[in-house]
Amino acid sequence: MQSSYTALHYTMGNKIFIGNWKSNKKISDIGPYFQVLTSELAPLPDTTRVIVCPPYSLLADVKKYARSPIYLGAQDVSAFPEGAYTGENSAALLAEFAEYVIIGHSERRNMLGETDEHLFEKVRRAREANLNVIYCIQNELDEIPDDVQFIAFEPPAAIGTGNPESPERISAVFEEVHMKNESPALLYGGSVNEQSISQFFDIQHLSGFLIGGASLDAFGFSKLITSWQD
Ligand code: PGA
Repeated sequence: MQSSYTALHYTMGNKIFIGNWKSNKKISDIGPYFQVLTSELAPLPDTTRVIVCPPYSLLADVKKYARSPIYLGAQDVSAFPEGAYTGENSAALLAEFAEYVIIGHSERRNMLGETDEHLFEKVRRAREANLNVIYCIQNELDEIPDDVQFIAFEPPAAIGTGNPESPERISAVFEEVHMKNESPALLYGGSVNEQSISQFFDIQHLSGFLIGGASLDAFGFSKLITSWQD
């Protein structure tokens, strides 16, 4: 089933917040987390989307809380179809839970050696299963496959370091990426937190953020989301 979200990508004024939990949290954390998040976020305009990306093992539990404005994403997808691929999670399997998937995160490119070729195959599999793709790039030179719905600029030196990229550099990268790929929504990720977030709000073409560490605390994450509502 095609996500009903596709048409929104081309609308100005969307505010997308992707919470990438990476390899964190347990089943027992989920209820309390969403109790806080849902009460702190209500009500939000429907141009704001919060896409929570838990580890695979928590997708089914988080799905119980995935109703607007909260949506569910996976952190990665297999480049292979369903079948004899031990340890892999196919796009069709993920699509039973999630509407979104992150592909090409620098932690996977750098630590697990994922190549452009491999990532393009993942995008193809994800799109066959109608998952919306959040495609991460490290700079303006990275190749971007067709048919991705979000492009997240995630400079490795800014990820998890407390040193976000400068708004000027983000603007320059967005400008270049936007010239070549007009449709996908552009996101920034890397040390976005309560201290850093407001400096990014005026960046042209910015549709939202990919947030790692600061998405783990539901109060803190909801503060980031509501800080961009005025
Ligand atoms: P960070 O991570 O917010 O902890 O810097 C961002 C990311 O890896 O997407």
